[in-house]
Amino acid sequence: MTNPSLLVVLSAFLICCFSIPEAQAENVLFEAGKKIARAGTGKAGSIACMECHRLRGGGMPSIGSPRIAGQSAIYIAHEILGVQQGTRYAPMMAGVVRDLSRKDIQAVARYYASVRSPKVAEISPPDPALVEIGRSIAQKGLWKKNIPACVLCHGPDGRGIPPHFPYIAGQNKGYLLRQLLSFAFLKRKDDPQGLMRGIARRLTHEERKAVAEYFASLSPPPAAGKRAEVQGSHHP
Ligand code: HEC
Ligand code: HEC
Repeated sequence: MTNPSLLVVLSAFLICCFSIPEAQAENVLFEAGKKIARAGTGKAGSIACMECHRLRGGGMPSIGSPRIAGQSAIYIAHEILGVQQGTRYAPMMAGVVRDLSRKDIQAVARYYASVRSPKVAEISPPDPALVEIGRSIAQKGLWKKNIPACVLCHGPDGRGIPPHFPYIAGQNKGYLLRQLLSFAFLKRKDDPQGLMRGIARRLTHEERKAVAEYFASLSPPPAAGKRAEVQGSHHP
């Protein structure tokens, strides 16, 4: 019964007929997502994601567009749904994502989760005094005001805890500050249990600026996308 060649044939069959179709499905999804990123969906009025986020997902600090490269696919899809459903107020994005189907969202999320991008240059250099204040809040929190250390949820040095806690290291500072304001003033209400809304509201404006300066001054983590890790060669 324990014929080794039979086992070889059997495992070859299993690898061939189960793993390959799965990899192919991932490939199809990635390519479909790349197409939307590059050229839009083809529907009337569709705008390509790369117009604002770049093809490699590095974002554009000058227009307040975030980097999204290597954010988890689940997080990216969650944010797009939030914009579609209005729990996240984002006027520049709303028209763009209105017509995306669930399948389009899944594809484009898989694509951007898998690509890598270096940090895109900021519009102004970091303010060293604010960076230091921000570092302390990020690493230790402000317990007197019931604000936990940001790194507890956003991972060591803000590198993210996928799939639900986004990385914020290396994100552009204008975007970071605007998100903290959106949470504080309830324009963004898609955070689980209102965790970020409470924290953002309890920070002073100076403290919000400080944490934004601090996280923006760090390097972004390398893409966490499974495909990028496996193949390492996706630099479109
Ligand atoms: C016209 C410019 C523009 C286009 C085109 C655009 N975006 Fe955006 N996107 C933005 C801006 C600006 C924000 C920040 C919104 C805010 O301030 O909350 C954003 C936010 C996002 C976020 C949230 C990121 C985060 O860290 O929470 C995701 C995900 C995203 N966009 C994905 C996409 C995808 C996918 C496409 C293509 C289908 C796309 N965007 C097309 C401008 C754009
Ligand atoms: C208790 C957990 C928790 C803590 C502590 C926390 N966050 Fe968050 N944060 C989250 C979650 C969850 C999200 C994603 C919300 C969503 O799904 O839209 C988030 C989102 C964010 C975003 C938006 C990221 C993006 O790409 O749009 C920023 C900016 C942010 N947090 C900054 C901070 C800062 C600064 C601190 C420390 C002062 C902090 N967070 C502490 C849980 C936390």
